[in-house]
Amino acid sequence: MIPAIIEALLESRHLLVYTGAGVSAESGIPTFRDALTGLWARFDPARLATPEAFTADPELVWGWYEWRRQRVLRAVPNPAHRAIAELESRLSRVTLVTQNVDDLHERAGSQGVIHLHGSLQTPRCFDCGERYGSLARELDEPEEGRRLAPPRCASCGGPVRPGVVWFGESMPEAALQQAFEAAAECDLLFSVGTSGLVYPAAQVPQIASRNGATVVHINPQPVAASKPREYSLPGAAGVVLPQLLQAAFPD
Ligand code: APR
Repeated sequence: MIPAIIEALLESRHLLVYTGAGVSAESGIPTFRDALTGLWARFDPARLATPEAFTADPELVWGWYEWRRQRVLRAVPNPAHRAIAELESRLSRVTLVTQNVDDLHERAGSQGVIHLHGSLQTPRCFDCGERYGSLARELDEPEEGRRLAPPRCASCGGPVRPGVVWFGESMPEAALQQAFEAAAECDLLFSVGTSGLVYPAAQVPQIASRNGATVVHINPQPVAASKPREYSLPGAAGVVLPQLLQAAFPD
């Protein structure tokens, strides 16, 4: 474990934890771009993750997101989610920003999670925007590729859509603002399990680096760490984060 990282963690006044699909990989939730197992390696995002796709074939898109939501319901937080929640209780200030649409951070005990790409738990009417978070119902068997008619909005009769940000849609302004502000004032940022390919979310670690924060990438794929005070900790989040916690706060 790199002493400078432990030191930065112990001295941190404001840690920003920024997560992507990799933090949920050890809970059995597929990432997006991992070859073969990633969702985008097996499905076409243009057919499943755009407003046009939903308009063209609501049953295909709703069925796919229900399959994903059910997988999340059946998953449990892994040691990475739990280590992040533990850091929140040990440090004076931790901001958690995620690109993920699952609720595994919340189920591990994290509070005030900033979701940049929305959430599977907040479906809403495609036409009038009415929220249907209470829709959470167990599917008997969430088959991949199963078509399902989306529920209809009680207010306007429009189709209910997943509460996630699709390609071509803008991100929730307030969440983005909060994330950028935290990135501009944190002194330490852990970037956990993200390929860093999707903007504007991918700007978060760059803003932190520009403001002089120590930036640590946690990913089995080594990440190019070329800026001052930037580190790459190769490894699975569920292994590396508990190790960091143990090194900084030995039992
Ligand atoms: N621990 C840490 N990182 C891991 C693990 C693990 N156990 N397993 C895989 N990873 C890494 C992969 O090496 C990869 O770099 O997680 C990253 C996942 O990258 P993506 O699949 O691109 O997911 P993400 O970066 O979250 O995608 C960002 O793109 O498709 C959109 O909206 C979608 O929020 C998503 C966004």
